[in-house]
Amino acid sequence: MGARMIGIGTALPEKVLTNHDLAEMMDTSDEWIRERTGIRERRIGLPTSALGVQSGRTALEMAGVDPSEIDLLVLSTTTPDQQVPGTSAVIHAELGLRCGAFDLNAACAGFTYGWVVTQSMMDAPCGPRRTLLIGADSLSPWTDWTDRNTAILFSDGGGAVVLEHTDARTMLSWDLGADGNHRELIRGGHGAKISMDGHEVFKVAVRAVSDSVMAALDRAGLGPEDVDVLLPHQANIRIIEAICKRTGIAFERSCNVIEHTGNNSSGTIPLTMAKAHREGLLQPGALVVMTGFGAGMTWATTVNRW
Ligand code: ACO
Repeated sequence: MGARMIGIGTALPEKVLTNHDLAEMMDTSDEWIRERTGIRERRIGLPTSALGVQSGRTALEMAGVDPSEIDLLVLSTTTPDQQVPGTSAVIHAELGLRCGAFDLNAACAGFTYGWVVTQSMMDAPCGPRRTLLIGADSLSPWTDWTDRNTAILFSDGGGAVVLEHTDARTMLSWDLGADGNHRELIRGGHGAKISMDGHEVFKVAVRAVSDSVMAALDRAGLGPEDVDVLLPHQANIRIIEAICKRTGIAFERSCNVIEHTGNNSSGTIPLTMAKAHREGLLQPGALVVMTGFGAGMTWATTVNRW
């Protein structure tokens, strides 16, 4: 048994911050950022709750599901509006939901962790029939806009999916990983802006994500040639290229939005999923792999039959 996606929505702030804007604020250039990251522009200016409400409402409308019919809300975020209560409570009230709700924090791997958690819960005998899974992050308030190591990458954005129980098996395998020994590589909060050793993150991410994707495919009895659509976390296009090279998945199979969105942590994978949906790539039977990594460090992969 499993859960299929019946609605999807996205949210991006209106304010566009281009590489040229950043070059006026710090010692960098449009050319450097594009070549080293694949990013041309990013969106900033909305809190996590607003991103969650907007994307959640759109996903519910597309699914044609009334808020009272949702049995569980899971919000993946590493940038909650406030410490207490969880931001899922704000979204719960704004959308008029009547179900259980909780926040999940696995940084940029969070949406994929959330996917595994919700699919697994929906597989249980008394599990929820319909779940709203949201990935949303507002990194801009936590970004040091004088630090060219992080400011060129980070942004705000989110996406939401409505999952409905089905008798078909949808999630074929998963792989969740973490290594807290790398917890200093990306850190921030409690008044401190996010700092990052980008070079080290790059190396750890390529290795960990490639191994994770290959482990998950292996558990499903599949290989890289079977992948129809790859939905990778959008941190740096060079990381995605390196992961494709190491795993043997053709880069053309990856669906990317980073050029216009930057890295909005939990928001990136649902944003790529929405793009794949718009482009008609998520056909019934397609093999869809999503994989993310982030602070912690954490990483996560799932292999899904659409
Ligand atoms: N503009 C211009 N020059 C720069 C910039 C910049 N923004 N940043 C660094 N440079 C310079 C450096 O000073 C260095 O110069 P030097 O050779 O004279 O010493 C040169 O460019 C190369 O610097 P590197 O740090 O080696 O550049 P790299 O190719 O590694 O790119 C980057 C840096 C983009 C940060 C990359 O390492 C990266 O993307 N890392 C991964 C980040 C990531 O995935 N984060 C995800 C976590 S997000 C989360 O969990 C919330």
